[in-house]
Amino acid sequence: MTTKIIGTGSCPGERVVTNDDLAKIVETSDEWISSRTGIKERHLTTGLGTSGMAARAAMLACENAGIRPEELDLIVMGTSTPEYCFPSGACQVQAAIGAVNAAGFDISAACSGFVFALMTAHSFLKSGMYRNALVIGADDISKLVDWSDRKTCVLFGDGAGAAVIKAQEDGCFEGMMGCDGKKWEVLTCQARSGGNFITEKKPDLGYIYMDGQEVFKFAVKKVPECIRQVLDANGVGMEAVRYYILHQANERIIDSVAKRLKEPLEKFPMNIQKYGNTSGASIPILLDEMNREGMLNRGDKIVLAGFGGGLTWGAILLEW
Ligand code: UT7
Repeated sequence: MTTKIIGTGSCPGERVVTNDDLAKIVETSDEWISSRTGIKERHLTTGLGTSGMAARAAMLACENAGIRPEELDLIVMGTSTPEYCFPSGACQVQAAIGAVNAAGFDISAACSGFVFALMTAHSFLKSGMYRNALVIGADDISKLVDWSDRKTCVLFGDGAGAAVIKAQEDGCFEGMMGCDGKKWEVLTCQARSGGNFITEKKPDLGYIYMDGQEVFKFAVKKVPECIRQVLDANGVGMEAVRYYILHQANERIIDSVAKRLKEPLEKFPMNIQKYGNTSGASIPILLDEMNREGMLNRGDKIVLAGFGGGLTWGAILLEW
């Protein structure tokens, strides 16, 4: 038993914010942001929030898949920015779309969230426990950003992407996940923590902190490594891969991964210029755009690869 993606959907944040808009609030420029990252603009949510964007992306994915929400058995959502500690964002989506027969929970793996969520849902389908699952990557990352810190505030955007997956006998779906907890401090955002009646402190709340160069070095080394690992484990050569759909964190990271794999950049579609880094949402938003633009044909082999805080990474080889 294996897994096939049968539909996709996406929903970016409602408001477009350009590099010039940000140059009005911090000392930066369109030139610096574009040349260092490839980002021209990003979308920020002004009302929908994580679960609202996720629910819209989920409905579109169900429509695209030709499946009714009641037919879903499972919802797994990769997010670092749920609206509540509990309930999970997946439960909010379940209610919003009427997926009354689905169990749901969230996965916390930062920008690798969609890959980890897809691997998790796939494992349930492969085991025979469920047949239809909805996998979401959604982040309202703008609420964690310190808007006075130019090192991070120019990088991120909000959005959600979703995929409906189905259990089936034939096809190809193989992947791996990894993490290096020793490096957790290079990319963090503290949750509400450290306060109770004994400490007489109010819990602290954090903003995103990132050692950009450490994360950059990690990504350009680890992403090609895990892609090679998945391809080698399944005896698939790089010439058989139609597209590599990478987490959209920085155009220069994607260029560097392409060079290290000795693969043409045309195999690495990008939309970072429009959305910035949408964390767990970047891979499914890009996948949905490619699907709707007719770039994917049944039988194409594609690789998804995510990386981010944790540090975490993961790659999936699948047949469209
Ligand atoms: O999705 C999670 C994974 N995250 C990532 O993959 C991010 C990985 N890292 C990166 O993409 C890059 O490291 C950044 C885009 C974050 C930064 O690029 P960089 O080439 O590593 O720049 P830098 O941090 O070395 O900064 C270079 C200079 C510094 O000035 P000095 O010290 O040389 O005078 C910064 O203060 O650029 C300055 N700078 C800025 N200048 C204008 C930093 N941010 C800005 C800014 N505008 N927004």
